[in-house]
Order: sequence, then C-alpha cells, then structure tokens
Amino acid sequence: MIMRLFTAIAFESKTKEQISALYEELESAGVTGNFTPVSNLHLTLKFLGEVDRSDIRRITAALDTASAAVSSFELKADKCGFFTSRGEKTVWFGMNGEQLSKLAGAVDEEFSKIGFDPEKRQFTPHITLIRRAVCDSAAISRIVVPEITVNVSSSTLFESRRDGGRLLYKPIHSASLK
Ligand code: 2AM
Repeated sequence: MIMRLFTAIAFESKTKEQISALYEELESAGVTGNFTPVSNLHLTLKFLGEVDRSDIRRITAALDTASAAVSSFELKADKCGFFTSRGEKTVWFGMNGEQLSKLAGAVDEEFSKIGFDPEKRQFTPHITLIRRAVCDSAAISRIVVPEITVNVSSSTLFESRRDGGRLLYKPIHSASLK
C-alpha cells in the first residue's frame, strides 16, 4: 500500500493557537487565500512523497538515527514572508533555532542513505500559513510576528491523507532528539 509521507516538527495545540493569531493579523491586512487548518500547522524537515508501507521500518529507523544525533533546541518566531511559485503565492511564518539546519541536514543525510534523493536546494525553514494567497509584499512586510518560543525535543513522521476534501496529517512516529 502506498502512503504519502513527510517529516516535520510537530507543534502542541498551544503553539498552533499562538501561530494562528497571525491569521487575524493577515486577514486585517487584507490578505486572502487558503489558510492552513490550525490543526495542520507544522514545520517540514523533509518531504518523502509516496512510499510503500513495507518501507516504514527503514524510514522510522532513519528518522531515529538523524534525530538522536542532534540536541534538543529552542525554536523562535522569526518573520512572515511569501514565496511565489508557478504564479501562486504561499504565505509562510518563519521560525528558527540553533540546531534546526543541523537537524534538517541530518534527516536529509539519513534518508539519502536509504534511497531518497538529497535536497538540491538549501533548507528554508517555514510554516505554510496560506496557499494561493492574494497579497502584496507591503502588506506582508507590515505583519508583526508574535513572540513564540517552542522547545523542540523530537521530530515526527507524518502521513498526509485526503479525507473527503480535507487534508489530514496523521503523526505515525516520533523520534527523540539527543
Ligand atoms: P509546503 O508547506 O512548503 O507546501 C506536507 O504536504 C508538507 O510537505 C508541506 O509542509 C509541504 O511543504 C511539503 N511538501 C508537499 N509536497 C512537496 C514537494 N513536492 N516537495 C517538497 N515539499 C513538499
């Protein structure tokens, strides 16, 4: 059976609520689009794509190895921005921390050992807030980001599923950091 997987930093409900405070601010700045359901907010480390269920053990082992090599760290709110890709804008919220790039690098390396293509582009930590956004850069640059600090002590393997029209991200494995 085929599953669509990605690895990410998962957030507690409290953190997701804090991040979603930005939604009101973006809305009052006139930004519209498809807002990520608050329960789905996460920071992707590596997207794995479609894999066979029989590969799950190797995948969880790779995530365990990568995570165990990196110390727990604090993630702090950074800034809000947007990407434009194929004419569509994606508004994101940046959070960063001392070990974050190291964790993403370790994850990429362990997954490359089991056959996933290594990332060609530099890791750009972001939490996607709005897809197909309608906004201008001035509106985004005026957004004041809330002060949010998160203690990261694990990484999570998620399955991405469609349930009717809804996109669900189901945590299927958690790997502890050092
Ligand atoms: P995004 O938020 O930047 O779109 C679950 O879909 C997660 O995997 C999302 O965080 C998404 O990143 C990422 N993702 C989905 N498809 C992807 C792809 N083809 N390449 C890289 N990341 C992808």
